[in-house]
Amino acid sequence: MDGSERSRRLQRVYSAKDNRELAEGYDLWAKDYEDDMLSLGYSLPAVAAGFVGRHVAPGGSLLDAGAGTGMFGGILRVLGYGDLVGIDISGRMLERAAKKGAYRDLRRMVLGEPLGFDSGFFSAAVSVGVFTTNHAPPGALDELVRVVEPGGWVIFSVRDDVYRDGGFEEKQASLENDGRWGRVTMSEAFQPFPAGNTSHLNRLFVYKTA
Ligand SMILES: C[S@@+](CC[C@H](N)C(=O)[O-])C[C@H]1O[C@@H](n2cnc3c(N)ncnc32)[C@H](O)[C@@H]1O
Repeated sequence: MDGSERSRRLQRVYSAKDNRELAEGYDLWAKDYEDDMLSLGYSLPAVAAGFVGRHVAPGGSLLDAGAGTGMFGGILRVLGYGDLVGIDISGRMLERAAKKGAYRDLRRMVLGEPLGFDSGFFSAAVSVGVFTTNHAPPGALDELVRVVEPGGWVIFSVRDDVYRDGGFEEKQASLENDGRWGRVTMSEAFQPFPAGNTSHLNRLFVYKTA
């Protein structure tokens, strides 16, 4: 694999100036995305699946927000989560996810805008690799909480510097202060690309909705 091509593709999405550029970047990356991420040892879906397995009873409906090519959904399906709905800003990433056959429904939606689901529709919302530099904003969490039933779960990763400097720490605390959810777990910061040379640590968060 050509490492410089891979870096260029990563750089393109992390430096996107708006949602149009971001969606375009992922549309162009969709074909090579999984090879690139796997070659870097991408660990977020596997680690997050552990937290889902620990808390979310199989049987309910799960929303995978920023599902991409469906790497997370593929794992969740094997773990017995059979009712998965995926959303993403990139149509080409969703086309790849559809080929996995892991999702009941896949729709193009934008995190940070109103989501086209009824309140309390899902028993859990999960999201990995999406709350990071120049991707979905902290305000997207409002909609994830809204579409999850009371007593349900919101489980997601946040890049650690984005958590501290990108408004996530404040947003997550304000949802807690407003009584919308309670924090169950904040993982230690860990390297999501153990085979790469990036030092951008991520954390996994588990919240129970009120
Ligand atoms: C690094 S990928 C992670 C994909 C998948 N969750 C995984 O772990 O392989 C980030 C995904 O988030 C999507 N995304 C980024 N910002 C988004 C937004 N505001 N709304 C919806 N999807 C978004 C991208 O299109 C991309 O598929």
